[in-house]
Amino acid sequence: MIGVLVSGTGTNLQALLDAELPVAAVASNRADAAALTRAGDLPHASFELADYPSRADRDAAMAEWLSGHDVELVVLAGYMHLLTAAFLDRFPNSVVNVHPSLLPRFPGAHAVEEQLAAGVSESGATVHLVDEGVDSGPVLAQERIAVLPGDTPESLHERIQAIEHRLLPRVVEELCAR
Ligand code: GRF
Repeated sequence: MIGVLVSGTGTNLQALLDAELPVAAVASNRADAAALTRAGDLPHASFELADYPSRADRDAAMAEWLSGHDVELVVLAGYMHLLTAAFLDRFPNSVVNVHPSLLPRFPGAHAVEEQLAAGVSESGATVHLVDEGVDSGPVLAQERIAVLPGDTPESLHERIQAIEHRLLPRVVEELCAR
């Protein structure tokens, strides 16, 4: 079963749900994440850092809750905190993330703006395995698009997200079949 971690609007969570993948539970670092409302009747919960003595304690609690819902594969769908070993060691080689650039170029939270500022002609989306670094784990799949003259962060991100919504469910489906 799949656990999905979210922090934002959750369009990638929606794509996983629309693809009818076996999502068992949704968790967030923010109680007010709009994405949580997409979970509907699925078990969903927030694990705010402020409620725990440390990030490792929060991550351990979140991992425990996901395991309790039979989660074996974790998908980060716009989850904006780094995960510690307290979480990753519970799901070895089984945490994936989707990122709006052609990694290893432009990791981090401002990838779309940074690609435009750097004047790149090509961008895209990457699905990769998660380690403790910032968007640094092994790449599983990537798809490219051209950056167009006049692109804004919003227009470029919208086209990248259209890729993400196809690429992420495809890779997750493949991982489920392992
Ligand atoms: C996506 O563009 C993803 O690449 C990045 O955060 C964004 C999340 O969007 N990591 P959403 O919350 O799935 O709509």
